[in-house]
Amino acid sequence: MRIVVAIGGSIIVKNRDHEKFHQYGKILKDLSKENELFIVVGGGIFAREYIKIARDLGVNEAKCDDIGIDVTRLNARLLIFALGEYAYQDVPHTFQEAMKFASSGKIIVMGGTEPAHSTDAVGAILTEFVNGDLFVNLTSVDGMYNKDPNKFDDAELIEEISADEMLNFIKDKEVKAGTYEFMDMTAIQMIKRSSFQTIVVNGHYPENLIKAVNGEKIGTRIV
Ligand code: UTP
Repeated sequence: MRIVVAIGGSIIVKNRDHEKFHQYGKILKDLSKENELFIVVGGGIFAREYIKIARDLGVNEAKCDDIGIDVTRLNARLLIFALGEYAYQDVPHTFQEAMKFASSGKIIVMGGTEPAHSTDAVGAILTEFVNGDLFVNLTSVDGMYNKDPNKFDDAELIEEISADEMLNFIKDKEVKAGTYEFMDMTAIQMIKRSSFQTIVVNGHYPENLIKAVNGEKIGTRIV
């Protein structure tokens, strides 16, 4: 399969150390033996801290986004280090570049592309661009809930949801740099217009990526 994996920055740099890069490196090397892999890495805490400093300096939101993109690319470089020779040794800045680098047969690792969306959207656009079979979005929650699980004990995990229903869910959410929600509008619109499979799973447990690829019942599937 040709698989696009978005690893949220909130997961990979959560503890400000190398551990998750190392764990994901191992799993991705294994998966690459039978699959063609494109990885998109998020910005997480470091992106938010840099964006805050930029915003305090009075720069506009697009420039704040641009700072966030730089940080996602730094995180992508760290994952490339963890993957060693399994990875293409350069971070593509565009979808065309990702496609071009993929002819090397190596794992492609990138961060953001342009302002006004999140790395989830990059993952979704990339999946369409490369005609991916599967888009796995590794986030900091188990999937999508019918209400906020941090506030409501009776919140239930949604196993399957349509892209349309999801669009309704998030339409009033924040669009400031560093604050894109669970999945941003652009990502869901891409999922809606294309026919690739999308699974959102908890990335704090890297083995969930293997379960998602193996078709196990896990997370939220967007249909
Ligand atoms: P992320 O998409 O990683 O956002 O990019 P995040 O909020 O840290 O998400 P998680 O928690 O890792 O999943 C960080 C910031 O970089 C900018 C946005 O401002 C985003 O909030 N960005 C990223 C872009 O503007 N365009 C991109 O293509 C990617």
